Amino acid sequence: MKGSKFLEGENVLLLQFEEEDAEKLSTILNLPSVRKPMIPATPQSPTDIKSYASEETEVFLTIFDKDSEEKIGHVELILEDKVARVGEIGYMVDPNHQGKGIATESVDLLVNYLFRELNLQKIKAETDEDNEGSKEVLKKNGFEKEATLEREKFKNGTLIGTEIYSIYNE
Ligand SMILES: CC(C)(COP(=O)(O)OP(=O)(O)OC[C@H]1O[C@@H](n2cnc3c(N)ncnc32)[C@H](O)[C@@H]1OP(=O)(O)O)[C@@H](O)C(=O)NCCC(=O)NCCS
Repeated sequence: MKGSKFLEGENVLLLQFEEEDAEKLSTILNLPSVRKPMIPATPQSPTDIKSYASEETEVFLTIFDKDSEEKIGHVELILEDKVARVGEIGYMVDPNHQGKGIATESVDLLVNYLFRELNLQKIKAETDEDNEGSKEVLKKNGFEKEATLEREKFKNGTLIGTEIYSIYNE
C-alpha cells in the first residue's frame, strides 16, 4: 500500500489519492450500479479521475480495506465556498464491499476531519431521491434533509429529483 496514512477507522484506511489508484477507482465507478446514482453519472476514465481529483476537489481519498489493503472506494470534498466554509462531499464503495458499513465509517472519518482540520462550518451532500443507501449513510452520520430539488436528473428514462442533506459544525 502506497501513500501516507491519512485517516484510520476500525475497518478502513483513507489515504491520499495516488495516480496509481485511478485504474481501480475507474473500474468501480463505471459499474452501472455505482455510476448511475453519482452526480454527474457519466463514465469516468482513469485520466478523468486524475484530473477531477487534482483540479476540482479539495480532498480526494481512496478507501482501503484495512485487512486486505484492497482499494474499495473513495470519498471526496468539493470546497464550494472558501469564505463561508461550505463544502459538498461525495463517496462510493465497490459493490463487493457494500452493506458492511464501509461508507458510514468512511463518511464519519471524513466529516470529523473536515470539521476539525479544515474548519468547515457546513457540509452538504446531494443524492438521488431514490438512493436509499446513500440517504442512510448520511442520516447515520447526523446529516438532515435540507431540500428536495425536483426533476434534476434523467435516470432510466424518467426525470427524478435529488435531495440535499447537510450537517453543521456546532
Ligand atoms: C451508497 C453507498 C455508498 C453505500 O455504501 P455501503 O458501504 O454499502 O453503506 P453502509 O454499509 O455504510 O450502509 C449504511 C446503511 O444504509 C443501508 N443501506 C445500504 N444500501 C441500502 C439500500 N439500497 N436500501 C436501503 N438501505 C440501504 C445499510 O443497511 C446500512 O444501514 P444499517 O447499518 O442500519 O444496516 C454504496 O451503495 C454506493 O457506492 N452506491 C453507488 C454510488 C453512490 O450512490 N454514491 C453516493 C452518491 S450521493
